[in-house]
Amino acid sequence: MATIHDLAGWKREGRKFPMLTAYDFPTAQILDEAGIPVLLVGDSVANNILGYENTLPVTMEEMLHHARAVSRGAKNALLVGDMPFLSYQTSTEEAIRNAGRFLKEGGMHAVKIEGPFLDLAEALVSRGIPVMGHLGLTPQSVHAMGGYRVQARSDEAAERLLADAHSLEKSGIFSLVLEGIPSEVARRVTESVSVPTIGIGAGPHCDGQVLVITDLLGLGGGTYPKFVKPYANLREEITRAVRAFADEVEAGEFPDQQHSYS
Ligand code: KIV
Repeated sequence: MATIHDLAGWKREGRKFPMLTAYDFPTAQILDEAGIPVLLVGDSVANNILGYENTLPVTMEEMLHHARAVSRGAKNALLVGDMPFLSYQTSTEEAIRNAGRFLKEGGMHAVKIEGPFLDLAEALVSRGIPVMGHLGLTPQSVHAMGGYRVQARSDEAAERLLADAHSLEKSGIFSLVLEGIPSEVARRVTESVSVPTIGIGAGPHCDGQVLVITDLLGLGGGTYPKFVKPYANLREEITRAVRAFADEVEAGEFPDQQHSYS
């Protein structure tokens, strides 16, 4: 099973690694069997699976529901539960309780928090809860950012992000997601922290790369952001399959003898 120590080792060896989001049992099983070493039960389940407009509405109960399904499917990957909006920003006590629930009830091995919550990261780590940080474009702050905009573009913002990364490292995080920032800023962070960075829309210099599984599989309708590379077009494939089924039913061709009991 992959552990947080493996990730630290990969950083030292200069070995790049993939992370993917997973939200359900069969997908977790497939990704795990394909050798993806880190699975994130992302709060992106909100807009990618549950049909919410953004990640803000998803609750702790909904996250735990998906976490349990993923933990039943994955046997080898390091599993990270994404702390949903307002499950950790209100008080350290509430955050510890919710993070603990991911490990105790959700079968997760670690949690992820967005933003430079330094004392909180330390409080969780000191209680035996490994923490993945997340800086740059942090989707839970979509309204504060005025939309999904690339962050750390100015020198001042880049320096602030670098300082936050160093502070989070001191707080004891085991890895750091960098989302929606210029490649050069991600390179500077990656070269100056000892924990692995995992990029999404942060260019090629990060130690690991993460994509949202529904984006990678081409399940979404419409267009994708620049940083997304769909490696398949499952939306088209699913449409083809269900249309074939519907056509055969309508033509009285399904079920045929081969798919019926005598
Ligand atoms: O919820 C999520 O999918 C994430 C990734 C973008 C890192 O936080």
